[in-house]
Amino acid sequence: MENKRVLLASRPAGWVSEDNFRLEAAPVPAPADGEVLVRNLWLSLDPYMRGRMSDAKSYVKGVDIGEVMVGQTVGEVVESKNPAFKKGDKVLTQLGWQSFGCTKEVAKVEETKAPLSYYLGMLGMPGMTAYFGLKEIGQPKPGETVVVSAASGAVGSVVGQLAKVWGCRAVGIAGGAQKCAYVIRELGFDACVDYKAGNLQRDLKQACPKGVDVYFDNVGGETLDTLLRHMNLSSRIVVCGLISEYNATEPYGLKNIRAVLVNRIRIQGMIVFDWKARYGEALNALAGYYGEGKLKYRESVVEGLDNAPKGLIALLKGENFGKQLVKLA
Ligand SMILES: NC(=O)c1ccc[n+]([C@@H]2O[C@H](COP(=O)([O-])OP(=O)(O)OC[C@H]3O[C@@H](n4cnc5c(N)ncnc54)[C@H](OP(=O)(O)O)[C@@H]3O)[C@@H](O)[C@H]2O)c1
Repeated sequence: MENKRVLLASRPAGWVSEDNFRLEAAPVPAPADGEVLVRNLWLSLDPYMRGRMSDAKSYVKGVDIGEVMVGQTVGEVVESKNPAFKKGDKVLTQLGWQSFGCTKEVAKVEETKAPLSYYLGMLGMPGMTAYFGLKEIGQPKPGETVVVSAASGAVGSVVGQLAKVWGCRAVGIAGGAQKCAYVIRELGFDACVDYKAGNLQRDLKQACPKGVDVYFDNVGGETLDTLLRHMNLSSRIVVCGLISEYNATEPYGLKNIRAVLVNRIRIQGMIVFDWKARYGEALNALAGYYGEGKLKYRESVVEGLDNAPKGLIALLKGENFGKQLVKLA
C-alpha cells in the first residue's frame, strides 16, 4: 500500500494554478497509541482552502510550503489503536489531501442516515455554517425575505431551504440560468436572480418587492454592495464568505455603506468553528429535515487525488454545481 499526498508547493499570487501543488508518494503511516489509521474515501474541497494557501493573517494559520494541504475527509478505519474505534468504522477526519493518515481527531459517522459524502456537505461543515449563520446571526422571522448568494452551492442551498422551512421568502443569487432554474425548481426557493445576466440591481428589486430582511453573503464584492441598497430597516447581513475576492490582489471597496447608517443594518461576520459546542444540535436538525424530504442536495465530484487541484480551481471559478468533492476510493 502506498500513501498519495498533495502538498502545497508554492503560494499563489492572484489565481491558484496547478503548479501551486505537488503530488508525492509516501509510505502508509502506522498509528500510535490512541490513534487510528484511516483510508480516506472522500475529500471535501472548500473555498477556505484558498485562504490557507496564503500566509496572510487570518482566523487560522495557513499551510506551510511542503505541508499536506488541509481538508476534511470521510474515511474508513483500517487499523485502530484507540478502543473507541474498530476496523471498518466510517469516520470524519481533518487528514487533508492524502489517501491515508493517522489521527486522534476522529468522529464516527452513520452511513444509515445519509450517504457518507453528505457528512462533508449538507450534514457537515457547510450545513452547520448555513444553520448557525442563518439562525443565530440572520435571526429570520416568518414572513421576512431572506436573500442568499452562491445559492446553488453547499452553504447557500441549505440557507435558502432552511429559510423556507422557517417560514420566510427565500431568494437566491446564482451564476447562470441553469443554476437559477435548479434553485427554484429543485430547491424550492421563491425566486433566484442570475447575477451574470448583468442587472442585479433591477432584478433584485423585482425578486424582493418588500425589500430584504436578511442577506446571507457568500460572495462579498459588488454583490454585497448592490444588496446594501435593498436592505430594510433593522435588517441583518451575515458575512459568511467573500469568494468573489479570494483571488483578487486588491479588495473591493464598498460604496453603499451609507445604507448601514440610514437603515440601522446589523452586519456580522460568522466563522462556523465558533459554534462547535452545538454541532450536534445542527446535525440533528439537518438530518431531520433531510429525512422529512425538506432538504435537497447536489454534489460535483472529481475522481482521484491527482485531480484535487483541478477541482479546487474549478470551485473557485464557480464551475462546481453543488458541493465540490473528490472521490478518493
Ligand atoms: N464563515 C464560515 O465559517 C464559512 C464556512 C463555509 C463556507 N464559507 C464560505 O461560504 C461561501 C460558499 O462556500 P461553499 O463551500 O458553499 O461553496 P459553493 O457555494 O459550493 O461554491 C462556490 C460558489 O461561489 C460562487 N462564486 C464563485 N466565484 C464567484 C464570484 N466571483 N462572484 C460571485 N459568486 C462566485 C459560484 O457560484 P455561482 O456560479 O452561483 O456564482 C460557486 O459555485 C464561500 O465564500 C466560503 O468561503 C464560510
